[in-house]
Amino acid sequence: MVTIKRISAIEILDSRGNPTIETSVELNDGSIGIASVPSGASVSTYEAWEIRDGDPHRYHGMGVLKAVSNVNNIIGPKMNGMDVVRQGKVDQTMLELDGTPNKIRLGANAILSVSLAVADASAKALKLPLYVYIAELIQNKLPKKFDHMPTPTFNVINGGKHGTGNLDIQEFHVVPATIKPYHEALRMGEEVYQQIKEILIARNANYAVGDEGGYAPNLFTNLDALEIMMEAIRNTPYKIGLEIFLGLDVAATHIKKENLYVIKDRATPLTTEEFIEFLSDLHRDYRILLLEDPLSENDWKGWQILTSKLGNEINIIGDDLLATNPQRLQKAIAEKACTAILIKPNQIGTLSETLAVIKIANAADFKVIVSNRSGETNDTFIADLAVGVGAEYIKFGAPARGERVAKYNRLLHIERELKITS
Ligand code: PGA
Ligand code: ZN
Repeated sequence: MVTIKRISAIEILDSRGNPTIETSVELNDGSIGIASVPSGASVSTYEAWEIRDGDPHRYHGMGVLKAVSNVNNIIGPKMNGMDVVRQGKVDQTMLELDGTPNKIRLGANAILSVSLAVADASAKALKLPLYVYIAELIQNKLPKKFDHMPTPTFNVINGGKHGTGNLDIQEFHVVPATIKPYHEALRMGEEVYQQIKEILIARNANYAVGDEGGYAPNLFTNLDALEIMMEAIRNTPYKIGLEIFLGLDVAATHIKKENLYVIKDRATPLTTEEFIEFLSDLHRDYRILLLEDPLSENDWKGWQILTSKLGNEINIIGDDLLATNPQRLQKAIAEKACTAILIKPNQIGTLSETLAVIKIANAADFKVIVSNRSGETNDTFIADLAVGVGAEYIKFGAPARGERVAKYNRLLHIERELKITS
């Protein structure tokens, strides 16, 4: 039996320059698994909680020494000697040690770093690629073959909490058709990304980038951003509506003020019904294929109306709405509130719970999109996760900046390993 010998964590930095936690798990056969965890800026109320030190004299209160200490002094000692491949038992042990519904005692950041590092160590001990091990965990058997790579959706313009305060919509995406081989889809996304820069330069607009590597331009309206994307695509060989589409993460929870949606394209704040009209027009005019968090995380009625209206044509994705949470997903399935789920392991806090949520989504024919956070490290676990669970899409930010391309590049390696070329 391969067992856990030592677990240790340190404080490192994420892509926003904030501290985060990195944990290594050493096994009695010498294998070492390592994982670090990301952090969101546009956070749902229903996520598990990361814990921060709150000491204003260190990292403006954002330090994670308490979470590090929880791994080194509470979780680690309890795990020593455990059978590493029993991921469910490992995660359950941490849930019991924590004992709170949102992981506030030990911290979802501490717990997830251990959970992912344990899976990484197991894959190494078993001499399996991580995505194969993850597939085995979710299917309860070794997969026979992989015939599908996830399709990337590229966050090429950053607004909302990731931008400069200029655009209300948080993410403007280009989405290659799912039929495209992964490496081609990556090239398409990158080529459109570069075209956008050219157009911004030509318009004397700012082409600095936001938190996820997309441009954060000084434009007048959200529609201006969509127009620039259409123009950029027209400057490439790719046909809009056939080979390439647009996507939006409205992150609408964060633009809702006193029950109305505030968007600079309209002179007055919009009711739910008016905002649904606005989004339907965008869908018609701009070939929107992926629409994430179109309404706020508590506007269940609005989600139902929108999904009954557009759910057959496009993917309506719950991020803040669902928070990778099984109860919220069950409610959304029962109420037909959306058609797809964004999966962010740190919203729920363990790998086992993440896989359980994906199983519920699969059973309900919900599309699965595995996503990064706006604060990331170079950790590539989510690339393996996406392939291992057979996700339809991945959302890793812009095709630029180290912490984003680390994941895109990991998928290039997996694609080559699997010889999936179409
Ligand atoms: P976050 O945003 O990582 O800042 O929470 C990502 C998203 O809303 O999809
Ligand atoms: Zn989102």
